[in-house]
Amino acid sequence: MLAVARSLRPRWSGVELTLLDRVDLLADDTREAYRRLGWDVRSQCMDVMNWLRMDAEAPYDLAIASLFLHHFEGPTLESLLRGIASRQRLHCQRPRRDRSAASQRSASD
Ligand SMILES: C[S@@+](CC[C@H](N)C(=O)[O-])C[C@H]1O[C@@H](n2cnc3c(N)ncnc32)[C@H](O)[C@@H]1O
Repeated sequence: MLAVARSLRPRWSGVELTLLDRVDLLADDTREAYRRLGWDVRSQCMDVMNWLRMDAEAPYDLAIASLFLHHFEGPTLESLLRGIASRQRLHCQRPRRDRSAASQRSASD
């Protein structure tokens, strides 16, 4: 996500970024790198299913699921996607990051 933030500079500034994971993955130097870009970052450390039970108003402009949705399937995945969709205007899912996935994509594209 930090690489995305860097690539969007200087067009996107003053961004409020929430990183949700049940583990706090946000290191101090990463937080500082966001700050230098003018992004206000916060770590929301909780299970995404609890997040779904919170206020369903749409406070986000964009949600990005990075290497995340593969943890869910069936009705759970369905309710997660519905919950995400109801809380933001756009949604992106990062593709798998391994080389074989990249070559499979380019072969099938
Ligand atoms: C492959 S890691 C990806 C981490 C990060 N999003 C990234 O792109 O580097 C998958 C993450 O999903 C988180 N995760 C799995 N199930 C979760 C859940 N129910 N609620 C919140 N986070 C969850 C794990 O803690 C783990 O950090």
